[in-house]
Amino acid sequence: MSMFAGRHILLGVSGGVAVYRVAELARLLQKAGARISVVMSRAACQFVTPLTFEAITGEAVHTELFDLTREREMGHIQLARRADAVLLAPATANLLAHLAHGIADDLLTTIMQVNEAPVLIAPAMNRSMWASAATQANVEQLKSAGYRFIEPTSGALACGEQGVGRLAELEQIMDALQPLLIDAQPLAGQHWVINAGPTAEAWDGVRLLTNRATGRLGVALAERAALLGAAVTLIAGPGVPATSTRIRREHITSAIEMLQRCIRAATRADLFIGTAAVSDYRFAENHAGKLKRGDNHRIRVELTANPDIIAHIATMPDRPTRVVAFAAESCDHVTHARQKLEKKHVDAIIANDISNMGSDTASGWWITKATTTPIEAMDKPAFAAAIIEQIIATEREKDAVGRTEP
Ligand code: C5P
Repeated sequence: MSMFAGRHILLGVSGGVAVYRVAELARLLQKAGARISVVMSRAACQFVTPLTFEAITGEAVHTELFDLTREREMGHIQLARRADAVLLAPATANLLAHLAHGIADDLLTTIMQVNEAPVLIAPAMNRSMWASAATQANVEQLKSAGYRFIEPTSGALACGEQGVGRLAELEQIMDALQPLLIDAQPLAGQHWVINAGPTAEAWDGVRLLTNRATGRLGVALAERAALLGAAVTLIAGPGVPATSTRIRREHITSAIEMLQRCIRAATRADLFIGTAAVSDYRFAENHAGKLKRGDNHRIRVELTANPDIIAHIATMPDRPTRVVAFAAESCDHVTHARQKLEKKHVDAIIANDISNMGSDTASGWWITKATTTPIEAMDKPAFAAAIIEQIIATEREKDAVGRTEP
């Protein structure tokens, strides 16, 4: 389910050319299931009429502080109180100045004085205005007061100049809004390391031994953990999909590189999750350049076993506090996964069917020494969320047992 479903977003729109892009943003939020109340400044109404936003959101747009009819229906205090999050887009230099100095002279700035919900600000303005000492000082002040920013990007500006001042991409704004809608950050202060995707072993300068893993589940776990407050490092093999800016990402190709990066990142981490499909073998010899085809109908190639990364991580000095592995099996899933749990010295393992690889959905079993819990079939982001719930629940149980022991 979308993070936006049923959540109430107050969209504060101030006067800049980027208003037309914010109309599209309102449509995307609406499509994702959010309920949107729009408050427009007087200048914003010069760019786009309130009717545009009314048509998109299906709700009256609020513009005037002393519109008594509307105040009776929905006063500015209630407007602020019912918001789960506030998004200010586009935010002009003038709006930033008002917020930083507590000036409340219209409906939007008055609501911001009353508001207690988390706020994301998406500024858009001329590059010099953005770079000006006054604006930058206001931004710093607002950041230290807890306002979050999705900074403007560089590009051609409406005024004809080039520079930093363009409203951030709409997907980035949606992405930055999500953490504001999470009520609690149970993983705040934790460092998680996740490896994902295939590895690829070079035979020569052009040929590789690799597998069909996509890394999508690893990415879904990383994104979810980051939304819940963890600092996440993702060690990604070739072809792993893009991740948000919340994720610290390192790229590797071979299993040996993956091992080295994982050791470095996971030392003293709070949690390591091994989702990577590590190549079990690598070529005994790695040739430079391109091997010639030759006339042989059959050739022998020698392979050497790769290290078991997760077993190494789980037994190294300064190992992460918890280590979670995956076991892709084709039969007797739980039995085989349990054997791997023991052999690799991990704290938990998720058994799943090999058919999950490359599929949009996944199902499996969460297995610890003491428990086996089935996880039903669902899409990969939901599967990732269910796994993280199990990780958090297992940790809470351990803490509870720890407290009752003498
Ligand atoms: O033994 P098997 O490959 O089935 O184990 C799967 C688990 O072990 C996964 O968590 C995978 O990331 C990890 N693994 C590893 N290094 C290997 C092989 C598997 O970390 N060389």
